[in-house]
Amino acid sequence: MSTPDDAWLNVLKKIREGLGNYDPVPVVAELFRFLDEGLVLVDTEGRMAFMDRLSENSFGLPPGGAKGLMFQDFFRDLGLLEVAKTGIPQVGRVQEIRGAKRLVTRLPIIKDRQLIGALGTIVFHDLEGIENSPLRIGSHRLRMFSVKNNFPAQNAAQYTFADILGKSPSLTETKERAMRAALTDCNLLITGESGTGKELLAHSIHQFSKRSGGPFVRVNCPSIPFDLVESELFGYERGAFTGARETGQRGKFELASGGTIFLDEISAMPLTIQAKLLRVIQEKELEPLGSSVTRRIDFRLVAATNVDLLQLVQEGKFRADLYYRVTSVPISLSPLRERHEDIPLLAQSLLPGINQKLCGAVRSISAEAIRLMSIYRWPGNVRELINVLEQSVLNAHPKQEIGAEHLPAFLKTGKANDVMGEKAIRGIVADAERKAINYALEKTGGNKKKAAELLGVSRVGLYEKLRRLRMT
Ligand SMILES: Nc1ncnc2c1ncn2[C@@H]1O[C@H](COP(=O)(O)OP(=O)(O)OP(=O)(O)O)[C@@H](O)[C@H]1O
Ligand SMILES: [Mg+2]
Repeated sequence: MSTPDDAWLNVLKKIREGLGNYDPVPVVAELFRFLDEGLVLVDTEGRMAFMDRLSENSFGLPPGGAKGLMFQDFFRDLGLLEVAKTGIPQVGRVQEIRGAKRLVTRLPIIKDRQLIGALGTIVFHDLEGIENSPLRIGSHRLRMFSVKNNFPAQNAAQYTFADILGKSPSLTETKERAMRAALTDCNLLITGESGTGKELLAHSIHQFSKRSGGPFVRVNCPSIPFDLVESELFGYERGAFTGARETGQRGKFELASGGTIFLDEISAMPLTIQAKLLRVIQEKELEPLGSSVTRRIDFRLVAATNVDLLQLVQEGKFRADLYYRVTSVPISLSPLRERHEDIPLLAQSLLPGINQKLCGAVRSISAEAIRLMSIYRWPGNVRELINVLEQSVLNAHPKQEIGAEHLPAFLKTGKANDVMGEKAIRGIVADAERKAINYALEKTGGNKKKAAELLGVSRVGLYEKLRRLRMT
């Protein structure tokens, strides 16, 4: 009878035979590194037999955790299943994966003339992005990380529901509700405290909707200068006002045509604009500044807020009619302190990305550290959790485990929890930045140019940070 060990020996023997007289010199050995990223194997039913580590991480699966799970429960593009069923290869297709264009190849696996499954591989298409990446020095994996984080495609969503980690009943219910709502064409309002994942959810809704092939245009309402809001949103004809561009400009709503417009922090929308906004949302048509022609626009509105809009209505700062328009389907994200059970999974799954960003080597988090994280109040929610993990990864260096002693002090005392405010969060961020800079300077022997490269910021950016953090 053959044992699992025999099976392994057979595989190794096959690889050896396959290599023939070619030695596993680095260029050959490198071939096997793809096992780490961008490779999925399925049988003809779509049951997964292999998934690379990076994908496992992104789904929050442990090593080997995809074994036997159904491909269609994890991936939206079902091309690989098609190949596993038809045996017809799909070579070199360009596909959008989390907002970035990738070259995807899917090959049938045939044994003894029988189709037994399919193999899917991803190759990077955004070569220019990789070339310019500040993290180019690292491994292939690092590049993937940097492409995803540093080169977001314009007007494209970058995250899907698979990126929203957590299994608590409250988050699961929100995700399910959001999925159902995504399939309709209703206006949606996402509410939740700062850092709960509203933006992540907005991206995912777009990707899950029938508009996923169209643009996803994010408008950060508070960041638009007051007197430019109207032209930014609705566009203008040439010569509409002094300083206007010769060619005129298309507004965000027009750019979102066929897709989704995401009005982030809609509470910051000036009252003077709200009437026009209401009309555009109701009528789905607009008149750019300086134009007398109305244009029909096909968009879906997703808005987000972390303040109580109803309160603003009562204070006369937000129009009631607009409020009812945008809140037709409300979706709320609960604060992290109300879904403590998500903390271990979130922390473990976010760790690999944070390690990569900070060139850390932490592999695990001690039970005591997890316990302390689980009783903390997290006023800054997941964003704060990421900051705390970043700080802890740096504190733990060169250890491979985050222990309770590596956590920021306020997590250890339990007392400070009640007084944690925005100021304290800013303090944590500044602290983490200081540590990261010190670490990078130490690694590069004080060479600021190299340290800036390591940190993924420009040299000027580093000097600015040094000044702001009073480190010069
Ligand atoms: N469930 C989650 N799983 C993984 N990452 C998450 C999750 N929720 C939030 N994040 C991460 O936390 C950070 C904050 O999330 P996001 O920007 O979506 O929050 P937000 O609600 O829009 O916050 P704000 O109101 O301050 O703008 C991001 O880095 C995001 O990727
Ligand atoms: Mg946000």
